[in-house]
Amino acid sequence: SNSTNEAFNSTIAVLLDTGNLVVRHKSNSSHVVWQSFDDMTDTWLPAPGMFTVEMDPNGSKQYIILWNSSMVYWDTGNWTGSSFPNMPELSRANTYPNTPYTYQFVDNDQETYFTYNVTDDRILSRHVIGVSGQTQSSVWVEAAQAWVVYFSQPKANCDVYGFCGAYSKCSGSALSSSCSCLKGFSERDPNSWNLGDPTAGCRRNVQLQCGSKGLEKEKQDRFYTINSVKLPDKAYTSIEGTSNQNCQSACLNNCSCTAYSYNGTCSLWYAELLNLQDTIDGSLDNIHIRVAASELPDSRTKKRWIAGVAVGGVATLGCAVIALYFLLRRRRRINSMNLGKGSLISFKYNDLQFLTKNFSEILGVGAFGSVFKGVLPDATIMAVKKLEGLRQGEKQFRAEVSTIGTIQHVNLIQLLGFCSEGTKRLLVYEYMPNGSLDHHLFRSSTAPLSWSTRYQIATGVARGLTYLHEECRDCIIHCDIKPENILLGESLVPKVADFGLAKLLGRDFSRVLTSMRGTIGYLAPEWISGEAITTKADVFSYGMMLFEIISGKRNNMHTGTSTYTFFPMWVVRKLVEGDVQTLIDSELVTDVDLRELERVCMVACWCVQDSESSRPTMGEIVQILEGLVRVEMPPVPRYLQVLAEGVKPSEVSNLS
Ligand SMILES: *[C@@H]1O[C@H](CO)[C@@H](O)[C@H](O)[C@H]1NC(C)=O
Ligand SMILES: *[C@@H]1O[C@H](CO)[C@@H](O)[C@H](O)[C@H]1NC(C)=O
Ligand SMILES: *[C@@H]1O[C@H](CO)[C@@H](O)[C@H](O)[C@H]1NC(C)=O
Ligand SMILES: *[C@@H]1O[C@H](CO)[C@@H](O)[C@H](O)[C@H]1NC(C)=O
Repeated sequence: SNSTNEAFNSTIAVLLDTGNLVVRHKSNSSHVVWQSFDDMTDTWLPAPGMFTVEMDPNGSKQYIILWNSSMVYWDTGNWTGSSFPNMPELSRANTYPNTPYTYQFVDNDQETYFTYNVTDDRILSRHVIGVSGQTQSSVWVEAAQAWVVYFSQPKANCDVYGFCGAYSKCSGSALSSSCSCLKGFSERDPNSWNLGDPTAGCRRNVQLQCGSKGLEKEKQDRFYTINSVKLPDKAYTSIEGTSNQNCQSACLNNCSCTAYSYNGTCSLWYAELLNLQDTIDGSLDNIHIRVAASELPDSRTKKRWIAGVAVGGVATLGCAVIALYFLLRRRRRINSMNLGKGSLISFKYNDLQFLTKNFSEILGVGAFGSVFKGVLPDATIMAVKKLEGLRQGEKQFRAEVSTIGTIQHVNLIQLLGFCSEGTKRLLVYEYMPNGSLDHHLFRSSTAPLSWSTRYQIATGVARGLTYLHEECRDCIIHCDIKPENILLGESLVPKVADFGLAKLLGRDFSRVLTSMRGTIGYLAPEWISGEAITTKADVFSYGMMLFEIISGKRNNMHTGTSTYTFFPMWVVRKLVEGDVQTLIDSELVTDVDLRELERVCMVACWCVQDSESSRPTMGEIVQILEGLVRVEMPPVPRYLQVLAEGVKPSEVSNLS
């Protein structure tokens, strides 16, 4: 800023790999006029926005994340000397292989700051907080030509304050989530919404009538109920000792009341509703949302509609019946198609809209889009996946889909049909009543899986992958093996989901990879190093998943008494010490078969070997798990050593 015009003319600005912006002389690179590192600020890269990261202004040794400069929704916890408690991924315990990071927290009477150094300059990494409201660390993955997020906090979008904006609901799992406007509301800023920034939220389609006095009942505002939600922040009023009916009237009689909830206590909301969240865990809270009368169909209209469907033979009954007619016709076609196995049904978008009740019941959100429940006229339930971000033409899409459709195996999800209309691409799958494996492994609300079930799941998944890798006409690399993509059918038979989709997306692996954010553990080292990806990348992810099947916990979620333990490394140690019994999930009681346990541990350790050629094939894994082939003690993978905390070189050599 003090530089003269002359100096300005003879200088250039360079952004170095270190992130330092340097203004220096054109001809003399060591003559630095100004550099950004001399004027560090308290945020990573300051920019205006709803979300900010800052040092706790109250002086504690932690960073906080704020919404609209006022509401703290996440903190790192106080610096322990080696890490921040709420971000174990960024401690030495859990970094990418061969990316030595160093951390330092400086705190004296002059200054307080935290440094984070990547000492290997071949690794490109960056750290941002963007419109998602999450802080995210990414590395550049050469193979995918994309930035891959390997760390984000808060883990779930839904935990970001105001992420979905007003009158909008957040759903999905920690790893991927989505926002949707409440019934009776539409996106306030559809453009930003489509660009992935829903923070503007939703607005009413029809203004409230307000007041009830002197209005005919038909014109009064109405309420509809959303079940199983995490309630919005700040119930402004709570009234004790009233009835549900009085609670509703209290809301109706106040023009600014937007919703109420009644559980014995009456809670009223008087402002825009923020932070409504679907709870998959079955919370019993429900909320009644106030909308104008015209937004809710009169109960009489509804009855007429139901009556219409019931006498569906009559020809004059409107769209619903016509749709039903086509569906019945389609069902006949489904029956005839089942005779020639493997043929796929080509659905009309309108039909899928009807069968899924306009995509109202969400089953999950994955890397490729959201999945909705649909019911065929014969009561068969199906899972309809709306694909997002596909850039393929129709012809290529149909070709890929028909390849996936020919794949039939008891451990692979069956594709039933698809829809390709304009830019819309949907896939229709068989429905799995027991949900995905992560539910059963990591949620305390479900009963823990027995050992024999875990073993059956490990073996089943291996069989399914063997089929994909070795027995299909074209070998298919799944690219995204993790518990979220293992669905459980009747008797908890595992079925691998989402195979073939990485190929469907062509070279666009980045979407697959970004779905792994927060759980860095499943990525094989070759994804980072830029080597070619083979089926052995799936073997690696499978191995990491085996550790989770054994422990019943996320690999990166183990917290010991004082320090953080990286479970896979611990397994390797116990295996070498011959002490496999201590490995087992404490929830498992008596039914552990120690020989099977040892086998699974051995397989897992072989799967996560550094070099692809040391890892077994999926076919070999099946044989080992079936007890047909014996395995030797695996060497300790270097990758794990890097991941594991506190393993000194001397200990490592003792292990191997
Ligand atoms: C800076 O460079 C421009 C273009 O090269 C020239 O026109 C201008 O006179 C220079 N200004 C000074 C102060 O040297
Ligand atoms: C380049 O700049 C440095 C620092 O200002 C100075 O010490 C050095 O003599 C300069 N070199 C030349 C060739 O001008
Ligand atoms: C953010 O804070 C400012 C100042 O406190 C306030 O005027 C504004 O309405 C807030 N924005 C939202 C979306 O609440
Ligand atoms: C009812 O809801 C209020 C407000 O959310 C809560 O504080 C209270 O514990 C709930 N009571 C019961 C019985 O669930």
